Amino acid sequence: MQIILCESAEQVGRRAADIIEARVRQGPAVLGLATGGSPASTYAELIRRHREEGLRFGDVTAFTLDEYAGLPADHPQSYHSTIRREFVDHVDLDLAKLHTPRGDAEDLVAEAARYDLAIVGAGGIDVQLLGIGANGHIGFNEPTSSLRSRTRVKTLAVATRTANARFFEGDDEEVPKLCLTQGLGTIGESRQAVLVALGSAKAAAVQAMVEGPVSAFCPGSVLQLHPRATIVLDPGAASQLTMLEYYRDAQALNDGLQ
Ligand code: F6R
Repeated sequence: MQIILCESAEQVGRRAADIIEARVRQGPAVLGLATGGSPASTYAELIRRHREEGLRFGDVTAFTLDEYAGLPADHPQSYHSTIRREFVDHVDLDLAKLHTPRGDAEDLVAEAARYDLAIVGAGGIDVQLLGIGANGHIGFNEPTSSLRSRTRVKTLAVATRTANARFFEGDDEEVPKLCLTQGLGTIGESRQAVLVALGSAKAAAVQAMVEGPVSAFCPGSVLQLHPRATIVLDPGAASQLTMLEYYRDAQALNDGLQ
């Protein structure tokens, strides 16, 4: 695991965008996209680079991490609509190459299996962007998710529905109870993973993910098994890490090598 400590959300966005840009400039790329507040500064920076620096997404295929069950793609709070609003509609990524699980599929179990196979069929994910929930979830893999799980239907934790009520006019009851999410095994197969976390509300989850045991109780900790995972943090999110000095030293050496 590589830990990158940043001074601000904007810097987190720039560091994560650097990793994505490096892969996109190499040629056709498959990106895994997270939604929610954490990646907002990353998407803002990628959009800026598209507009001002000619970063092109024409050769990019994208798969979102998850989707709410029951919401059609065109629902304003579906993750399909969200990722379009926050990122895809502002760059030259071909909509035909944007994949999201169909939350309104009649057979959600079959839809999850289809989605997992579609990722494999696209050659797998080159760079998977992730956020983390305050309870340690990545994607919507809530605590106790199997570390080898594939894309599937999951029940959202009460804490997750409460946290996401802000997107549903503050009403927990409006947040769907079920979702489709890439599994921890699916996420683990990405060739590179970049997790961004902001704010002290994420500090305990970040500490457990980075420094705790690998455990289904903190699903993010599965990234300890990932061959190429980078964790990009603002000061609040990093505030409970116990080896900050070591991470700073390693970061200074790595930055010096580049
Ligand atoms: C979103 C996702 C979730 C979020 C997590 C953090 O696609 O998969 O794991 O990354 O719930 O949400 P925010 O960033 O809104 O705090």
